[in-house]
Amino acid sequence: MANSMSFLILLCLVFAPFCLCHKKMGSYLYPQFYDYSCPQAQEIVKSILANAVAKEPRIAASLLRLHFHDCFVKGCDASILLDGNGGIISEKGSNPNRNSARGFEVIDEIKSALEKECPHTVSCADILSIAARDSTVLTGGPNWEVPLGRRDSLGASLSGSNNNIPAPNNTFQTILTKFKLQGLDIVDLVALSGSHTIGNSRCTSFRQRLYNQNGNGKPDFTLDQYYAAELRNNCPKSGGDQNLFYLDYVTPTKFDNNYFKNLLAYKGLLSSDEILLTKNEESAELVKLYAERNDIFFDQFAKSMIKMGNISPLTGSRGQIRTNCRVINT
Ligand code: HEM
Ligand SMILES: *[C@@H]1O[C@H](CO)[C@@H](O)[C@H](O)[C@H]1NC(C)=O
Repeated sequence: MANSMSFLILLCLVFAPFCLCHKKMGSYLYPQFYDYSCPQAQEIVKSILANAVAKEPRIAASLLRLHFHDCFVKGCDASILLDGNGGIISEKGSNPNRNSARGFEVIDEIKSALEKECPHTVSCADILSIAARDSTVLTGGPNWEVPLGRRDSLGASLSGSNNNIPAPNNTFQTILTKFKLQGLDIVDLVALSGSHTIGNSRCTSFRQRLYNQNGNGKPDFTLDQYYAAELRNNCPKSGGDQNLFYLDYVTPTKFDNNYFKNLLAYKGLLSSDEILLTKNEESAELVKLYAERNDIFFDQFAKSMIKMGNISPLTGSRGQIRTNCRVINT
């Protein structure tokens, strides 16, 4: 990696007058970005996160999800972290995020530690990306080197958050289209959905499946009926919207491939989970593969996370390095 970078830089010096590689170069993220400017950055993130996860295991899931909800809206630029004020309408109030997105205090804690160690250096967008990787590793999932060098946005997009992030009752086609709009494919969709091997969902996110999946007053027939009956105990027809359920009831805090095994048993919690098996042959084959081969799932998950983390980053002199992840610098 270091070698190929220096080769590229050399190439650009030689051919600078003839090509636009300077501009292109600026758009590359690379793992060594903070090696000189803040060599302790990754250690600091990991140690604060490890403490937070030890205190509350769900934090790992919540931070993994924040990176996803950040990257699908204007790219991985920490737009999701901005609070509303001074003309900014926060993404925190969007349908996918309201009463659901969490972990912001841990990001604040990491950011203030980094500002002490290396002021104005490490972006909030990179913190989200490193935290997503560390959350995966801390819960038993695969490791990967995180490409870095993202900068932070000067704004947020509530409509982007509402429109780009898939809803749990979207059709397979709608969800795949939303991934393709971000440059991700069906392999990325299935592998990244494997994130639902950790974390929780509220009753309101899957209630429709329990009572009235297709407007005919019947539950979703692709949901195991005994599992559905159990879920109804704490997710009544009305009320209990915020009641929490494990996305993977077998190993709820362990990053593994039980999520895919659950899908094969028709015990996926969200409609968007189960349809990976029931609505498309290609994705169904991938579900079966990942259920069978944890190693292949882990390998693809790491690749797809890097791909997601590369969605339209702000680099070079675009954007800024926020001092406080919740507000743009004045
Ligand atoms: C494929 C389309 C996806 C849909 C429709 C979807 C939808 C959801 C929903 C509805 C919840 C529960 C939210 C709540 O009720 O509070 C959830 C939780 C979660 N999602 Fe997804 N998701 C998708 C893809 C992803 C991806 C790509 C990732 C990460 C790369 C991810 C990571 C998570 C995690 C870790 C949680 C648990 C969060 C926590 O416990 O705080 N999801 N998702
Ligand atoms: C999906 O869920 C939303 C929010 O609960 C609801 O308003 C909408 O009607 C549902 N869509 C379908 C197709 O069932």
